[in-house]
Amino acid sequence: MIVGIASVNRDPRRFAEPDVLDISRQVGHLAFGHGIHRCLGVPLARLVAEIGIGTLVLRLSLELSGELEWHPFPVFRGLKALSVSATPRR
Ligand code: HEM
Repeated sequence: MIVGIASVNRDPRRFAEPDVLDISRQVGHLAFGHGIHRCLGVPLARLVAEIGIGTLVLRLSLELSGELEWHPFPVFRGLKALSVSATPRR
């Protein structure tokens, strides 16, 4: 049996709009796993994401500039690359 962790976070029985990116979602997710093996790096991952993504969107205007190409792995789904064009914000 293969568990697709990413699909758990898009479960229509749990989330009203499972395919919508809603960063204010209050219901828990499993992106960092669960239980005794829950990710040990959660605080660091959150800090890096907040600073990194926050700085990017504050300084740059970003737009998708290519087709999305996905890795074929069923368990950890992800993009091979994300092409964006960036222009500095004034
Ligand atoms: C966005 C970033 C990250 C995501 C999405 C993520 C996700 C996960 C997930 C899903 C697991 C559980 C795997 C399982 O159940 O077998 C896990 C475990 C773990 N993560 Fe992360 N992780 C992230 C960043 C980090 C960072 C920055 C560190 C350390 C600096 C870290 C250290 C660990 C360790 C040590 C475990 C194993 C915990 C255990 O088995 O007891 N992770 N992570």
